[in-house]
Amino acid sequence: MAKNDSFKVSAEELSHQTPEYLETLFAVGNGQIGVRSGHPLKVNELYGGNPGSFVNGFFDSEPIQYGEWAYGYAKEHQTIIKLPNLRGVRLQIGDEDSSASEWQVKPIQMTLDLEKGVLDESYKVVTPLGKTFELVMQSFASVTRSELYVCQYQIKNTNFSEPISMTHPLEQKAAIVQTDDPRVASKAHHLRKADYQDYAIWTAENSQRSIAIRVINGEKQLQAEETLTTVFQMKLLEDNQNHETPFNQELADFEVLLQEQQQSYQQFWAASDIQIEGDPVLQKGIRFNLFHLNQGAGRDGRTNFAAKGLTGEGYEGHYFWDTEMYLLPFFIFTNPEIAKALLSYRGKILPQAKQRAQELSQEGALFAWRTIDGNETSAYYPAGTAQVHINADIVYAFQLYERVTGDQAFIETVGSEVVFETAKFWLSYGDLVEKDGKLAFCINGVTGPDEYSALVNNNFYTNKMVQNNLYYAIELAQRFGKYQESISAWQQAADLMYFGYDEQRGITKQDDGFLEQAVWPFETTPAEKYPLLLHYHPMVIYKHQVCKQADTVLAQMLYTGDFSLEQLKKDYDYYEQVTTHDSSLSRSIFSVMASRIGDSEKAYRYFMDTALMDLTDLQKNVVDGIHAANMGGSWLSLIYGFAGLYYDQGLRLANHLPQKIKELKFTLFYQGEPVKINLKDQRIDCQLAEETRLIATKTDGGIWIKER
Ligand code: BGC
Repeated sequence: MAKNDSFKVSAEELSHQTPEYLETLFAVGNGQIGVRSGHPLKVNELYGGNPGSFVNGFFDSEPIQYGEWAYGYAKEHQTIIKLPNLRGVRLQIGDEDSSASEWQVKPIQMTLDLEKGVLDESYKVVTPLGKTFELVMQSFASVTRSELYVCQYQIKNTNFSEPISMTHPLEQKAAIVQTDDPRVASKAHHLRKADYQDYAIWTAENSQRSIAIRVINGEKQLQAEETLTTVFQMKLLEDNQNHETPFNQELADFEVLLQEQQQSYQQFWAASDIQIEGDPVLQKGIRFNLFHLNQGAGRDGRTNFAAKGLTGEGYEGHYFWDTEMYLLPFFIFTNPEIAKALLSYRGKILPQAKQRAQELSQEGALFAWRTIDGNETSAYYPAGTAQVHINADIVYAFQLYERVTGDQAFIETVGSEVVFETAKFWLSYGDLVEKDGKLAFCINGVTGPDEYSALVNNNFYTNKMVQNNLYYAIELAQRFGKYQESISAWQQAADLMYFGYDEQRGITKQDDGFLEQAVWPFETTPAEKYPLLLHYHPMVIYKHQVCKQADTVLAQMLYTGDFSLEQLKKDYDYYEQVTTHDSSLSRSIFSVMASRIGDSEKAYRYFMDTALMDLTDLQKNVVDGIHAANMGGSWLSLIYGFAGLYYDQGLRLANHLPQKIKELKFTLFYQGEPVKINLKDQRIDCQLAEETRLIATKTDGGIWIKER
């Protein structure tokens, strides 16, 4: 990538040029609407590419067909609906029609302007009869008016004088992806369209979910230099909502909308930017990631952040633990309002989680491993429902939100019920049994984050997170005078939580059996057999010591203070050797922990892979959408890793900058106040607001920011 303006990413500087890859990276979104940068003219499926648009939470469903069914299996697929390529237009000049004949369209430039939140493009077009002109476009999904996607077209440099008629052939059918890759697994979906005065309602046949779409200014006869600004207004309708008046947002001129967009991005960057001295390519890569994080987050409390944001069909638009463990730290520390909205979604789907616990004959609530509407939609329970740690991950995020923002009211009204209900689940699912000659609270038959070890006993990460879940439940029960009768049982389970340790080797046990298994034959596994999940039966994978992603190391990132440095190093070295990083959620965590154990060179290497993962298509599936969790992970590598951020009755920070990074500057919000951090050479400095309730003290290795 070129080292020019680090707020601009242009197609020509990227290593790959296939349409599907560019469509993902240059997708624009606002948390509600996402539009892949599909070809503006070649809207026909035959032309290749995989254009389309998404509305967060708009999905269709169908029953999961199991060859062999068992009680309690998830019932329905949920698949985000790929809507037509909104940007696509049909042009006619005299008798020539772009939908009927092949017009040559050559991109001149395509640039994502991260500073302003807009996509700028231009194309040179030649018709079969030799008419030539330039098509210039500017488009964005409005962050301030979440229902709007705006696209402005201009015709320039024509060699003819007739007007060009421009229309939006929205009825174009979206392409359906057929694939063997379980990470995509897209399903066909069917939409019914009903026209009203100036809008249409599109209803998904099975889920019966509807959206209203209004196309404002969809057609025009354009003379050279003229522009057409088309605005798409889209709204997901609540169940049984009156279809008569779906839209209440006022519209405004293009210039006003554009200005709002720029202002909103100004605020975003003021709060979220990370400045990195010494490596312009990296600087750009990080800004690109932060930009996509802002684009993907649902902000209405009813939707969340899909694993691919709103940029592709990968993982069917589902929400996972990715939100809580990889994305929420970024939002909690830089934009707590968005964090609150994402957490509100969990509060909203608590009834479904309670019902799921019942289906599993348990008390309390069990959140779905993957879902859009709150119901479990994972058809493969060993790597789905069995990842019960999602309960404790959600609780961890509520707790972090409270610690960092001080927003107790939200915890009282929304968070506490989630914390109590999940605590109840743990007490009914876990077992107080004799283990290693002592009474211990064990959680058996679960899958930890490492999806290459399924249905294990006492996954270390899970047990650690559950222990925290229970202690937080006790704290809240005492604070709010609730569940007094449960406190002693929660206390006992948390205090007696089992953690496996291999005394002989001095290694933390990922689970009861992991260290007793044969190590995966890494030396004889050729590079093309990775990711293993696409080449080996699960049974072959599960019986080996091999990790798809950070598991014990992730627990140690979250609870670094509970371990000696020596232990952290030993566990890191051990688990690193058996980890494939087949999941994009892995490297960032290994980067953070390498920073914390003092291996800054390794931290840098892992970090570089995470920072540029999608721009360089490291996982080779950017076509299906961005890797949102990894993008959040690159923030973690920088802030939790290089800057050592760790919550401990306040914020502890340290300087673990690798040699290649000369200076790192960013802002965190703590208790509602901005804290500016600057790392340079061996120093770490912080600047607090002028009138502040915070105090920063120097510690051995860094600084500690607390309330006065
Ligand atoms: C990972 C999961 C993750 C999911 C969605 C899988 O490959 O193993 O941890 O939640 O992708 O990103």
